[in-house]
Amino acid sequence: MRVAILTSGGDAPGMNAAIRSAVRSAKNLNWSVFGIKRGYRGLIYGELDEMGSRSVSNIIQHGGTILRTSRCKEFETDEGLQQAKRTLEAYGIQALIIIGGDGSFHGAVALAKIWDGQIVGLPGTIDNDLFGTDYTIGYDTAVNTAVEAIDKIRDTAEAQERFFLIEVMGREAGFIALEAGLSSGAEEIMVPEIHSELGEVHKRLMQGKQRGKTSSILVVAEGNHEGNAYEIGNKLKNLCGSDYRVVVLGHIQRGGSPTARDRILATKLGAYAVDVLAEGKTGVMVGEVKGELTTIPLEQTWQTKKPLDPYLLRLISVLDT
Ligand code: F6P
Repeated sequence: MRVAILTSGGDAPGMNAAIRSAVRSAKNLNWSVFGIKRGYRGLIYGELDEMGSRSVSNIIQHGGTILRTSRCKEFETDEGLQQAKRTLEAYGIQALIIIGGDGSFHGAVALAKIWDGQIVGLPGTIDNDLFGTDYTIGYDTAVNTAVEAIDKIRDTAEAQERFFLIEVMGREAGFIALEAGLSSGAEEIMVPEIHSELGEVHKRLMQGKQRGKTSSILVVAEGNHEGNAYEIGNKLKNLCGSDYRVVVLGHIQRGGSPTARDRILATKLGAYAVDVLAEGKTGVMVGEVKGELTTIPLEQTWQTKKPLDPYLLRLISVLDT
């Protein structure tokens, strides 16, 4: 068996742990393994190197991805897909492991229509927005990074008795905002999944002040329907004259050493991807649901919307007393 592996889209801490696990599991079966550089770009331009167990030494603790990654527009064209197919044929690749998010899986499904090798996806995105797995690789690290930052901001917010808006990543999903907000005792969160009335948000913040709160933190997911944190801040100021500070956490959420949780998830899923290929499956993403390793058709990972936990959502307001 000749298998190739790539990372695609936004990098996520734990991708290296997944690469390591998949490469070594495949080598245990005496498969030939190729690493593709820069995601689909490398597939189009034939940037492949053979990998062995030693090529993945001492990477489990590092963020980023040793294979590099990219968002590749060319792969969305027929010519790009055909060129990728030619590369796979030239190297005699029979199976492809793709670590990425829903954009990467859209690409995988398009490729599957013209190439008859096996394709297995691994959920690698800090956003946690893939249906078919409770958690995605990188999410736990990103939440912990955000919590650490918000805790620091709370110190200065409390000292100066200020109101802060903190923007976290999540273009279409509020998972990071919800868990980072709950873990750091945020007064409010705003997520793309729920329409928050700004007047009501302000009213609740003022009520908190009347109850003796001396600082307030509003965690905003970047994909919020009211705009980014600066826009929301301006709207609140126009609406109610509140003074505020804005912090955009940005790409620090994507970097750093993966947490043990992310390393274990990545290690399990990397090995399981190889098991699934050995069973002859294709067109699926591997995941973990309620502690069980599972597979789900790639299309379903984005066609079914993964919901935020309603119980956690309720707790944000219940605990803001
Ligand atoms: O998809 C992961 C993610 O980190 C999103 O949360 C964010 O909106 C996006 O990537 C940022 O992408 P880029 O690094 O290309 O600006």
